[in-house]
Amino acid sequence: MSEYDLLADVYDLEYDHDYDVPFWRALASRERGPVVEWGAGTGRIAVPLAEQGFEVAAVEVSERMVERGQGKSPAVRWVAEDMRDVKLEQRFGLAVCAFNSFLCLTTPDGALAFLRNTREHLRPGGLLGVEVSAFWPEELAGEPGGPGLCHDLTRGLPEGRLERFSVSRYDAASQVMEMRLFYELYNGDGVMRRRRSHGLRIRVTSRDELGLMLQLAGFEVEAVHGGFGGEPFVAGCDHLIVLARRPAG
Ligand SMILES: C[S@@+](CC[C@H](N)C(=O)[O-])C[C@H]1O[C@@H](n2cnc3c(N)ncnc32)[C@H](O)[C@@H]1O
Repeated sequence: MSEYDLLADVYDLEYDHDYDVPFWRALASRERGPVVEWGAGTGRIAVPLAEQGFEVAAVEVSERMVERGQGKSPAVRWVAEDMRDVKLEQRFGLAVCAFNSFLCLTTPDGALAFLRNTREHLRPGGLLGVEVSAFWPEELAGEPGGPGLCHDLTRGLPEGRLERFSVSRYDAASQVMEMRLFYELYNGDGVMRRRRSHGLRIRVTSRDELGLMLQLAGFEVEAVHGGFGGEPFVAGCDHLIVLARRPAG
């Protein structure tokens, strides 16, 4: 069972933003050929791209997430496999790995296997876009007395609300952040009805580590942005977006 199987029922409630979709849509329009999204979740990006007429394949390791995505759009080619080694028997003009799916690969070997597999799925001259959260030392350092409980979000429901809290611990040696997420479901009278917790792990990366991995996997880094408006990547940015091309030759 994958980590996200247990989060599939709350994923769309937690992550309902779409400010990044126009960025990927513009790239899909600019690059030729079909699009593959790696670690596509429930199709937050893949589904609007398919709705706009792009041919889209969505690879997602969690079967529960894929089931939700299939319910939203049969126009997407859904593949419930691991992006490190799946073979799609199709070549793409654009590959998208967005919203921290790349950070779910918690070892450098896994990340490199994924990048090499992506290269094999791009036509010569095809583009890969990777977008991850940018983490800065002060955020990763943690509290002096040990990790504290954060309140992450409140989401209104037809009858009640969902609250999410989390505790994170970052290991600077492995660059792995262990998170424990706590979900509390309240009814309309404010009475807690259900409570559960899940563990998640991500491996934080940096601009230059990602750039070197891309080079090792046979890509040429074409652009680095710090936001979806094409802002430069500078200290304090929320996002790290790297565009890298499989050489045409
Ligand atoms: C934070 S979510 C992002 C989902 C989607 N890209 C979005 O923008 O909403 C990360 C997703 O990557 C998936 N994932 C993690 N490791 C994977 C792997 N090895 N192969 C395919 N999908 C993977 C997870 O199951 C999860 O659905």
